[in-house]
Amino acid sequence: MRFVLADTALHELPCDLLALPVSERGSLEGNAARVEQAAGGRLAEIARADGFTGARGQVVLVHTPEAPFRRALLVGVGREAGTEALRRYAATAIRRARDVRAARVALATSVASATEDTPPDERVRAVVEGAGLGIYRFDRYRSHDEPAPAEVLLAAGDGDRGALGRAIRAGEVAVDATCRARDLVNEPANVMTPAALADAARAVAAGSGLGLTVLELDEARAMGMGLFAAVAAGSAEPPKFIVLEYRPDASGPAPRTVALVGKGITFDTGGLSIKPAGGMRTMKSDMAGAAAVIATMGALRDLAVPVRVFGIAAATENMINGRATRPGDIVRGLGGKTVEIVNTDAEGRLVLADALAYAVRAGVDEIIDLATLTGACVVALGDWTAGLMGNDQALMDRLLRAAAQAGEQLWQLPLYDEFLEAMRGDISDLKNSAGREGGAERAAAFLREFVGTAPWAHLDIAGPAFAEDKGAPPYIAAGGTGYGVRTLLRYLASPR
Ligand code: BES
Ligand code: MN
Ligand code: ZN
Repeated sequence: MRFVLADTALHELPCDLLALPVSERGSLEGNAARVEQAAGGRLAEIARADGFTGARGQVVLVHTPEAPFRRALLVGVGREAGTEALRRYAATAIRRARDVRAARVALATSVASATEDTPPDERVRAVVEGAGLGIYRFDRYRSHDEPAPAEVLLAAGDGDRGALGRAIRAGEVAVDATCRARDLVNEPANVMTPAALADAARAVAAGSGLGLTVLELDEARAMGMGLFAAVAAGSAEPPKFIVLEYRPDASGPAPRTVALVGKGITFDTGGLSIKPAGGMRTMKSDMAGAAAVIATMGALRDLAVPVRVFGIAAATENMINGRATRPGDIVRGLGGKTVEIVNTDAEGRLVLADALAYAVRAGVDEIIDLATLTGACVVALGDWTAGLMGNDQALMDRLLRAAAQAGEQLWQLPLYDEFLEAMRGDISDLKNSAGREGGAERAAAFLREFVGTAPWAHLDIAGPAFAEDKGAPPYIAAGGTGYGVRTLLRYLASPR
């Protein structure tokens, strides 16, 4: 799907479908005057007859043989007119365009008659993101799939065309990276093994000139990653400890270094502390943090990110065999601390502990981890919001700002010292699991023990990484969502 900046007004664009965002507040006549006129003055009447009020998600499709556009689609955006409304509008429009086999689609980049305080380049980017993410389907295993529209014309008025073109490009890069993360998550666990994830990292590295190191189990063990090895112990699939490295092109003073760390459990059975069937069903998505990290790494050069970035993914299954780690086993991690593995289903914090310690050893200036870590975080924040915890409020504030810009829901949870108390071991330094209270925070308190003094932020993405049921915005299909990629890209494009 190609995005093209149009050089005429929306209502003059020859296309198969013109989609118009209509707010609930403004009258349709006022909103759509010129499109209405071009369509022969029938839109408002038909819309009214169909009960269209502009409520969010409502659509009316009208054939308009007199107009340069063959059909007009009115898309309700409710009472909002910001970037999130545009993202939803564009996604709704593009999905409908595919349904009616439209090849050329014209999209607006503002909600007519609504007061508009978002700059034009941000609006263009939101429309590109909405359309690009909205058209996504995981179609590798479908026998036939309807083609996506070939071309999307963006009517953006007469702003700075250079800036608008760059906004389109930034939107496309964010879409491609997000969809790459979605693909990695959507692949079933029999395909997306740790080795396959390492291959995906290799492809990313080759595609954008990144360094790549993949540690095998014996190397990881020799280095001291006992916790990672303990999780991998029960699996027949060889684990992979994946490290990507991006260096900015510009040669100047040594740039700051950020580590992105992702939980890469390609399937989480729970181990000997086995999950019930219902809880296990979607656990191919337990590598969504790693997928987000790997996909983000592949977009850094396109966005000319100015800092050095490590992308670290600790990839293994959490399975059961005769060598599987037992509840009660005590293991030493890379950071030197010992952990009693009270519950083998609390495996994410184990592999992350070694990955965080690895980042600390690499001498990075700050660390951001993404992990489908706890069901407790989903209970606290629901399906669409990730939990944010960390040891550096300034870093977390910057991430909250990036998430808001990206349109990803992120909410800070507290990390009081008392959360660590429950995680202290009886005969070891730490244990990996305690009672159910404050589960997301206790997990984060455990992780904090492995980052030393480095500024660190942890995103628990157990809820938003995978879309299961209704209520998803139209730019998110069922399955992997690519959550975190857009926030990370916003953050890294302007990290201070
Ligand atoms: N991968 C799960 C967390 C999860 C749950 C992700 C639901 C996505 C949706 C994680 O490894 C896990 O099993 N966590 C346990 C921790 C507990 C044993 C302390 C949990 O949340 O129950
Ligand atoms: Mn688990
Ligand atoms: Zn898990």
